[in-house]
Amino acid sequence: MGNIIRENFDAGKSAAERVKNALSGKKLFAMVETYGCQQNVNDSQKYEGMLLEMGYELTDEREKADFIMFNTCAVRENAENRVFGNLGALKHLKEKKPDMVIAVAGCMPQQKEVAARIRAKYRHVDIIIGTHAMEKFPELLENVLEQRARIVDIEEHDTVCEGIPTNYGGGAKAFVSIMYGCNNFCTYCIVPYVRGRERSRQAEDILCEIKALAHSGVKEITLLGQNVNSYGKDMGQKEGFAELLKKVDEIDGIERIRFMSSHPKDISDEVLKVMAQSRHICRALHLPLQSGSDRVLKEMNRVYDTEKYLSIVERARELMPNLPLTTDIIVGFPTETEDDFEKTLEILKKVRYDSIFSFIYSKRAGTPAAKMTPCATEDEIKARFDKMLEVQNEISAEINASQVGEEQLVLVEGRSKNDPEMLSSRNEANKIVNFAGGDELIGKIVKVKITRAQTWVLFGELAEEDE
Ligand code: SAH
Ligand code: SF4
Ligand code: F3S
Repeated sequence: MGNIIRENFDAGKSAAERVKNALSGKKLFAMVETYGCQQNVNDSQKYEGMLLEMGYELTDEREKADFIMFNTCAVRENAENRVFGNLGALKHLKEKKPDMVIAVAGCMPQQKEVAARIRAKYRHVDIIIGTHAMEKFPELLENVLEQRARIVDIEEHDTVCEGIPTNYGGGAKAFVSIMYGCNNFCTYCIVPYVRGRERSRQAEDILCEIKALAHSGVKEITLLGQNVNSYGKDMGQKEGFAELLKKVDEIDGIERIRFMSSHPKDISDEVLKVMAQSRHICRALHLPLQSGSDRVLKEMNRVYDTEKYLSIVERARELMPNLPLTTDIIVGFPTETEDDFEKTLEILKKVRYDSIFSFIYSKRAGTPAAKMTPCATEDEIKARFDKMLEVQNEISAEINASQVGEEQLVLVEGRSKNDPEMLSSRNEANKIVNFAGGDELIGKIVKVKITRAQTWVLFGELAEEDE
């Protein structure tokens, strides 16, 4: 893999214009279906931005679409299987509508064998585009529309492309990628193989994007990267992330700043201090633990041990008392024993996370862990997973119950899906808070008094309108 290529979306813009001219007069619909992490959600917003630029209208109905893209995730096998299943289902649609264009993008086809499988077995797919080729999408689509040829572009080149139009969705919240790729090669993880090496965007480009978002009414920004704590290191900056956070904190109109993910090996004291002193950075930290066993952490190549992890938690809570934490845990890493698993439970009880994202280990071809011999059966692993949820649910429920009576600031997102009488909002810890209120509150930050708690959701009533 070569050096980082920095470029602007100029070639893509010209191609998008040509496509728009060629399609002019036709009313065409496009849809992008996203699988995977927030990084992929943000990438899909860029694909949508490019499609809008080419004159397509967006739809979320497959039947209506003239162009369908699946933006895929490779992190676990079940994510991949879902895509293969759904791709199969598109075949009939295409038979009915032969002019339809189907694309598979993202992390799955960035694996050569997967791209080959899609090419061979899903012949109704017209475009196979890897994570490295995103900015070339208008040119690829132009070729397909002109020549009705199938195109595969999964070449690897570590590019940072600025200026790709983005469809942020028009709400009060937006994702902003600050860096791409990952250098960590945790032994279970496919991400470094499908996303390339770490490369940071220039701070000016990031700040410019966020200022424009603030101008358009966005109040909450989530800074994205596989390991945001190493932001700027590829540009020779030691405290690049802390410096960036300080600058984002100064942008008028941005009232909430979140970031993810933080790798414990790279989070600096400076980042914690900036968080604690900031005006707008949410006091909440997502700090993936993965396992509570030092032996397993070593085999995972996580580069920290539980002592170091707990010292970060302690320091963070010294600077920000009662700081809500969330984490990622993998259950059933190949060499995880019952004893290792018990150690993970101990940490859950010690740290008392607000919530956890837990995953059953999924073997990923090409990663070092795929060659390790599993030492537990599927049933044993499932039992561990269930046990972990039981332990965590009790903690989450206790934490939520302890907040009844508190007044919390929440950002109102819209009507609750389960109960249209209620508004759905998020508090500073990013927890859902539902309360009764009018549509005029949507997009605003208001104060709510918590009246009732469940394991995953808080309920409240409006305390006082934001001035
Ligand atoms: N870069 C982020 C994580 C991205 S992947 C970080 O390091 O925090 C999101 C989560 O998926 C990981 O934290 C891990 O818990 C989980 N994950 C990654 N690979 C996995 C695998 N092979 N099986 C199960 N879970 C996995
Ligand atoms: Fe995967 Fe580890 Fe990189 Fe996260 S830090 S994306 S878990 S390799
Ligand atoms: Fe999945 Fe790719 Fe994200 S593998 S988790 S979509 S970086």
